[in-house]
Amino acid sequence: MAEAPLVVVAREPERLIATVTLNRPERLNALSEPLMAELVGALVELDADKAIRCIVLTGSEQAFAAGADISEFASASAADLLEPRRRSRWAEVSAVGTPIVAAVSGYCLGGGCELAMCCDVIVASETARFGQPETALGILPGAGGTQRLTHAVGKALAMDVILSGRRLTAAEALAAGLVARVVPPGRWLEDAKDVAAEIAARGPVANRLAKEAVNRAHEGPLSLGLDYERRLLSLAFASEDAKEGVSAFLEKRPPEFKGR
Ligand code: CAA
Repeated sequence: MAEAPLVVVAREPERLIATVTLNRPERLNALSEPLMAELVGALVELDADKAIRCIVLTGSEQAFAAGADISEFASASAADLLEPRRRSRWAEVSAVGTPIVAAVSGYCLGGGCELAMCCDVIVASETARFGQPETALGILPGAGGTQRLTHAVGKALAMDVILSGRRLTAAEALAAGLVARVVPPGRWLEDAKDVAAEIAARGPVANRLAKEAVNRAHEGPLSLGLDYERRLLSLAFASEDAKEGVSAFLEKRPPEFKGR
């Protein structure tokens, strides 16, 4: 029997939109390397399709995505995290010119939150919870979280979320400027698609250029910051604490950090 795709694409040609759904619900859409590869493939293909003028990126009702796949960390080295292919996947998501609306319900954590922040408009269900829990694993956000979250919500709240593991409710994320709209549970996907259709009905060239211009507002410092962040993640990954944090998660026990 063929394996289920990790990412499902549904086109709505009459509305000029397509919906990309992360499809690993049993793992809360943890962003494994194969999932990221499929996701990038789908986004790049849709970006080249002139009949698609806005993309909706979504997960399940329970989770947009609960972060990078921690089980892959158990066998990864610090050098693996600097591997160009692994890093370029995230750059390819950011390089998509077609506007992307993230439709977020449930957990939006770690790499999941970073993925949502790579999108252009976040529509969140009231149930959505945003966080960067990496330091509990002895590592730090490594796909833009330290940069994009700080840019979106400011230093005070970004530090709180990243250092304490605090999860923001949808209402808090809206007030802080992380998300654009909060909608009732049951409406998140349909409302996000309606927003995408509104975007898709407008000038497609102007939309792509406007997206580029808005992103340029912090592009220079961002690319330097992203590179710095990734190097620090690699450094953290080399620590005993990171191995302990990952093992503890996988063994479902509290970590015993030694500060080494
Ligand atoms: N990676 C791998 N597996 C994960 C996962 C992840 N990020 N998140 C959840 N899962 C798995 C769980 O291990 C569990 O698998 P089993 O059924 O085989 O036990 C399954 O998904 C369901 O999860 P839970 O039983 O834990 O569900 P819950 O409702 O009790 O808790 C949760 C939900 C609070 C999100 C909890 O799963 C959790 O804390 N997940 C990890 C969140 C996290 O630390 N994310 C950051 C990852 S690191 C990162 O993203 C780095 C980066 O910046 C690039």
